[in-house]
Amino acid sequence: MKTKELISTAKAMVANHKGILAMDESNPTCNKRFAKLGIPQTPELRRDYREMIVSTAGLNESISGAILFDETIHQQLKDESSFIDVLINNGIIPGIKVDGGTVALAGHPEEKITEGMDNLRNRLNEYAKMGLRFTKWRAVIIIGNDIPSQTCIEANAHTLARYAALCQEAGIVPIVEPEVLMDGDHTMERCFEVTEQVLHTVFNQLYKQGVVLEGMILKPNMIVPGLACKKQDSIDEVADATVKCLLRAVPAAVPGIAFLSGGQSPELASARLNAMNVRFKNKLPWELSFSFGRAIQQPALDIWNGNEKNVTEAQKALYHRAVCNLAARQGEYNSEMEKE
Ligand code: G3H
Repeated sequence: MKTKELISTAKAMVANHKGILAMDESNPTCNKRFAKLGIPQTPELRRDYREMIVSTAGLNESISGAILFDETIHQQLKDESSFIDVLINNGIIPGIKVDGGTVALAGHPEEKITEGMDNLRNRLNEYAKMGLRFTKWRAVIIIGNDIPSQTCIEANAHTLARYAALCQEAGIVPIVEPEVLMDGDHTMERCFEVTEQVLHTVFNQLYKQGVVLEGMILKPNMIVPGLACKKQDSIDEVADATVKCLLRAVPAAVPGIAFLSGGQSPELASARLNAMNVRFKNKLPWELSFSFGRAIQQPALDIWNGNEKNVTEAQKALYHRAVCNLAARQGEYNSEMEKE
């Protein structure tokens, strides 16, 4: 195993206060976001949108890596360069989502298991040859009445670890993403309890399956109340609960934790990440970073709206969100930045 290379890639993914841009929406997810805005759901427009993102000038000032989707790596920019090459030439490490999305877990119709293990070893070797240096696999855990079940947590943790071990065998850094969803009216305390259980189970499986913790990145949810919960805890309460949970469950050997945004508003995601870094930076064993999708892209997508003439304004919005999160990583973000 190329352990040295894995460790150096993982470190680079969370170095210099930068974060990872998730632009790896599957076609159905991307189409759903386009449909909301009335944008036609075609491969060409998905390509145009991704070109708008990767050609944003200065993105590399705050973005260390970008997660792509399989369709995108087989497309080209208008000048016929590949998406992978453009990122590499801009000093951004290219990565790719390799899971195949979620389906109902057999015997547990309200819960999800992630598919995509078939042929994964071969796909990873192909991706490595193409220059992709990290991957992402997302598992979904739903909070509800009597769920998540131990079965669901264990099945997903086992699969995440199998995926991670295969990635490292191919010399690719795995982003391990066990996402506890924000949907529901559960409290922040319930999210804490479930996330802690999930993370313990995931790290137990990673250990059992021999994954090198120094050569991976964890992509968890923050500890937040459900979107429909009456009590919405303060930014500092979320920051404290999140760090407390991670300190209990994430080994110090992991170089970085890069949060997903999960449906938080862009401003709230930045503010919560900032609060964690204000309160705990330099006291933690790992880097606290971001791997946001919607919380970086949404304002730019709204402005772009499928129209070529909006590209420059959309890129400004994308650049702005990336810079806000660069600041949040250093505990230097504030709401004044949103007026700039
Ligand atoms: O898997 C989820 C994405 O990579 C992150 O997206 O920040 O919109 O939750 P999100």
